[in-house]
Amino acid sequence: MTPAAKIKIARADDVAEGKSIKFSIPRDGRPLEGFLARFQGKLVAYENRCRHLPVSLDFFEGQFFTQDGQHFVCHNHNALYEPLTGLCTQGPCEGQSLKALPIETSDGDVWFIGGARIYSEAMAHVDLIDVTYVPDRVDAPDAVRAPPIDERVFEPSLVVPHEDEPALTRRTYRRR
Ligand code: FES
Repeated sequence: MTPAAKIKIARADDVAEGKSIKFSIPRDGRPLEGFLARFQGKLVAYENRCRHLPVSLDFFEGQFFTQDGQHFVCHNHNALYEPLTGLCTQGPCEGQSLKALPIETSDGDVWFIGGARIYSEAMAHVDLIDVTYVPDRVDAPDAVRAPPIDERVFEPSLVVPHEDEPALTRRTYRRR
């Protein structure tokens, strides 16, 4: 068990086949916009940033799919991207790929994995940290882990069963 370094971004049911939604996560103190889409039954997530120029793909707010639903399109200069790989197959950035965002679906929720940077950024400013421990199913060697919490700075409580989900545990850390 390790502290979860992930952020809930949507309910899986919110994204029907051929549909997409946008979400935002903090990065380097600023919001990073991504989009979540379902193609051929699979959920994928990418940064909402074209590889031709550093601008959003969805000139028409929230529209990422082409009309035939077979590609993502950048509405600025019509670059086409494969939904499952993010590869640009036509347009000024042909051969380059959208930046994929790692996600995981669990119990109908979709999570962005790798929020550890966000924890790190927030830690200098918070007085209370509330950690839920979840089974660690992220086995990628380069997975981003939650940062260690300095117990000289934060006093840990006892680990207790999570009140909403007895299979999980939680504890708080309060600034000393
Ligand atoms: S900015 Fe996306 S194709 Fe030019």
